[in-house]
Amino acid sequence: MVNILQILLFILPAYVANSTPVIFGGGLPVDFKMKFRGGGRILGDGKTWRGLLAGICFGSLTGLLEAQLCYSAVIPPSLCMNFIALGFALSTGTMLGDLAGSFIKRRMGIKRGHPSIILDQLSFLLFAMLLSLPYMPDGLLAVDSIVILVALTYLLHVLSNIVANRLGLKRVPW
Ligand code: CTP
Ligand code: MG
Repeated sequence: MVNILQILLFILPAYVANSTPVIFGGGLPVDFKMKFRGGGRILGDGKTWRGLLAGICFGSLTGLLEAQLCYSAVIPPSLCMNFIALGFALSTGTMLGDLAGSFIKRRMGIKRGHPSIILDQLSFLLFAMLLSLPYMPDGLLAVDSIVILVALTYLLHVLSNIVANRLGLKRVPW
């Protein structure tokens, strides 16, 4: 039986990393405005250094906070894991997956900010999971927890984009 609370605590740094760039992003794009083989932009203006660093910083901070909550026994020991390493691995993976998703979108001719149901929702999750593999607690790498993570990510992504759009942070609700 997978513990949904454990799954939430595990993936939280990735979600934080994924949502901070929309608030703190802007400025110099990661691809320095360069084009790919003379075609379109490598990544586009939606991927900036500030967003990338903000995601890794706030995601890692989330892991530190979780570790602190374990240390002070607010989070029960049975739900604790290597939150410090996980926070860094998950948020770095999240940001790399986000870049990879945009790279593929641009190669497919999808313009910056236009949706791709698969790439927007799941590329960050896949990369976050891959980078966090060495620190993943036993039992979490199971089909049922992966299904829960995919469903949860999908749901939260859709909901948070609607909220960001309503708050005027994003032009489009996806
Ligand atoms: N953002 C950023 N840096 C990043 C990721 C995101 O500055 N590394 C900011 C950008 O302002 C971006 C917003 O967060 O517009 C929303 O992120 P996302 O939906 O991932 O980017 P899109 O603009 O939709 O671009 P793409 O089509 O490439 O996904
Ligand atoms: Mg987008």
